[in-house]
Parts: sequence; C-alpha cells; structure tokens
Amino acid sequence: MIVSLCKRRGFIFQSSEIYGGLASTWDYGPLGAELKRNLKEAWWRSNVFERDDVEGLDASILMHPSVWMASGHVSSFEDTLVDCKSCNKRFKIEHIPSNKKCPECGGQITEARQFNLMLKTHLGPVEESGSLTYLRPETAQGIFVNFQNVVNSMRKRVPFGIAQIGKSFRNEVTTGNFTFRSREFEQMEIEFFVKPGTDEEWYRRWVDERFNWYLKLGIKKENLNKREHEKTELAHYAKACTDIEYRFPFGWSELEGIANRTDFDLKQHMKLSGQNLEYFDDETKERYLPYVIEPSGGIDRSILAFLVDSYREEKVKDDKRVVLGLNKSLAPLKAAVLPLLRNRPEIVKLAKEITNDLKKNFKAMYDDTASIGRLYRRQDEIGTPYCITVDVDSLSDSKVTVRDRDTMVQERVDVAKIKEYMVEKLKS
Ligand code: GAP
Repeated sequence: MIVSLCKRRGFIFQSSEIYGGLASTWDYGPLGAELKRNLKEAWWRSNVFERDDVEGLDASILMHPSVWMASGHVSSFEDTLVDCKSCNKRFKIEHIPSNKKCPECGGQITEARQFNLMLKTHLGPVEESGSLTYLRPETAQGIFVNFQNVVNSMRKRVPFGIAQIGKSFRNEVTTGNFTFRSREFEQMEIEFFVKPGTDEEWYRRWVDERFNWYLKLGIKKENLNKREHEKTELAHYAKACTDIEYRFPFGWSELEGIANRTDFDLKQHMKLSGQNLEYFDDETKERYLPYVIEPSGGIDRSILAFLVDSYREEKVKDDKRVVLGLNKSLAPLKAAVLPLLRNRPEIVKLAKEITNDLKKNFKAMYDDTASIGRLYRRQDEIGTPYCITVDVDSLSDSKVTVRDRDTMVQERVDVAKIKEYMVEKLKS
C-alpha cells in the first residue's frame, strides 16, 4: 500500500527506474523531497537550535583513508555471508537456522565468507592503491576528526555535542523492505562528548530524549520500542547500545541506535594521527579524553516509519478516504487552495492570489483539476493539513472555507486574515 502510494503520489521512486532500477537505491520525488526537508528541519531544530549544548557540522563524505583504519571500519565493518548451493540465495550467517540449512529451500550452504560493507572509490586520475578511499559508511567520523576544531572555534565546554545530517553509503548484501536497508541513505547523528564517569547517566538521558522525539512528532506509542543490545550484539566501538525500534509491516526493526562509544574513536584517532585530542577543562585543570554518547538515526527509515504510522483508511458516508495523518510540521504541503468553480475568472484570480501570498510563508498549492470532492481526497492522501476553498460567496463576503484534514470540520475565515490564521493553525 505505502510503496504504491509513494510512487503514485510522488514521494519515492526507484533509482534509475527507466534502466530497470539500481538495487537498494531510491529517489525522493517532489513530495518526498519536501517531507525529507521537513524531517531534517524538525531534527535540527530540536537538537541544535533549541539546545545550547549542541553545535551543527557539515563534514565531507570523502575522508582520509586513515580515518577508516582508525575507526575500525577497514578491519571490522563486515558481514559474514553464506550462499545456498541449491537456490543460490545469499544470507547473513545470523539468519541461518541451527540445522545449518538454507532458510528458504533447505539446501546445503557454502562456507562462510567475510564481506566488507564499505564502498570503495579512487581519488585522482590513476586507480592505484595509494588513491583508494571510501564513501563514508557513517557520518560520525567527520564529527570525531573535527572535535578539536569545534571545541576551539566555538569555545565549547564538555558536556556538549556535535550534530550532523548527511549521506552515508554501505554495500549492503541483504536488501529489500523498500527504503529500510538502502545502499545510499541519510543519517542524523549526534556525538555527545561527556566526562568519563557521567557517560551512563547521559546515555540514559539520550535514550529517553530520542524516544520522546518520535512520539512528539506523532509516532504511535504502541509502535515504538526500546531494545537494549546483548553484549554479543554490540558494535566493535560500543560499551552499551539501545535501539529505538518501530513496528514496521515486516516486523519490529531498528529506527535509531543510541550507543555509548566510550573514548574509542578519539583514542584511535589520537593514535593514528599523532595529534593530541584530549580536552582540557580550564576550571578544574583536568585533561582527559571525553566519552561519547551517540544517538544515530536514519532519515530514510524515519520517513518510512512516519508514512506507515500516519496512513489510515476511513469510511466517509458511502465513500472511502485515505489519509496520511502526518504531523503538520512534516506534511509536504501545508495548504491547498481550491476554487469551487474554475470557470469563474474572479474566483480563480482570488484563489491564485491567496496561494501566492501563502507561499511566502510555507509550501502551498493551487489546484483546479478535478471536482472539489476529488481534490479533497487527493490532499488527504498526501497529508495536507488544510484545504482552503474559494466559492461564489467569497466574492461578496470576502471569506473562504478552511477544511481540516483530520476532523473534516469547515470554518469560514476572512480573506484578509487567512495567512495569519494559517500560520497560527500550523503552530498547533
Ligand atoms: N554511527 C553509528 C551507526 O552508523 P548504525 O546502527 O549502523 O550506527 C545508525 O546506523 C542508523 O542509520 C540506523 O539506526 C538506521 O536508521 C540508519 N541506517 C543504517 N544502515 C542503513 C541502511 N543500509 N539503510 C538505511 N538506513 C540505515
């Protein structure tokens, strides 16, 4: 349902579709691009603008290859894979049952092989080993290598965090489930630097903070879960990790991970770069390597969760309507202006004037390409919180009808006050 709606209404398309597509890569269409921008803005607002202990960063995707030696990604960022000798399907070793047979057809499986998930590339005109580097598999390392730059340029004191949103790349071998596991995706990550000894308290605070962020933006509580990792599941850098999971149609799966990365990364970068990355507290005169709490979420997984969670079908009299009950701040369009009679130039003119005025504040559209009932349904299906209808009476009483997406309640509002009214409504 969601996959077809995403394509039909311009949220998400398969990448390179006219060539048959490229596995596990996706393009965001006009409405998807707006939804993505709104989601990033909501994350940035709550984590950077509204906090005085977090600064933003936008580091490059290409980094010095030594970064990935230091981070452990060259040696440890691997999947262990097996192939089925009968059906030739490939599986991660953890998905093989205890009888060591293919989970799909019961056939014999091959010996396990290691497979590094980083995508390689070469810089410069010659493809030789000295030019080898990687497309980053996480945005986090751009933050670690800039730790001292941010401390010095912004005069930050621990505890503080650095936030970043950006593309990451992984040569995923088991794909599927739409955008859930893509080869190119976006992350929203914070590395929060704390004094060792205070890390466990900050870890718990960030787990709650991030869990509540999803709830505040409208995800239903019954579809959200915290799952603490077993020691054996922890990534090579983590002392503890909690996944925030969402109940996707294919089962409970990770939306975001909050990890206690200790001083692993700073220590490693100190070792390989030869630079001193210690923090000096000029009040207590202590010098130490901070521990790091890392809330790391995926934009694409969040978008998928918000779409799935907000989708509903309702019966209205004898009709059915599909609604994306997205939080207003996330909705791709905030308002649609619809003329009731498109063959009355004065009505069309007024509707277009209102649209142009609203566009100065937020994304709005004018639409006269169908009957009013159809136009409402189209806007409901893409999550537009308000439809504004201009009718014959509008020409004499200078009022328009505002219809609420969720309640379908209609209200007459003065044309002169419509922008002010909408701005207020969108805040609530
Ligand atoms: N810096 C830590 C880190 O990258 P991760 O658990 O591997 O940790 C963090 O990734 C988040 O990035 C995940 O919770 C998920 O939302 C997103 N993510 C990871 N791999 C992804 C993929 N292949 N496709 C889409 N999102 C992905």
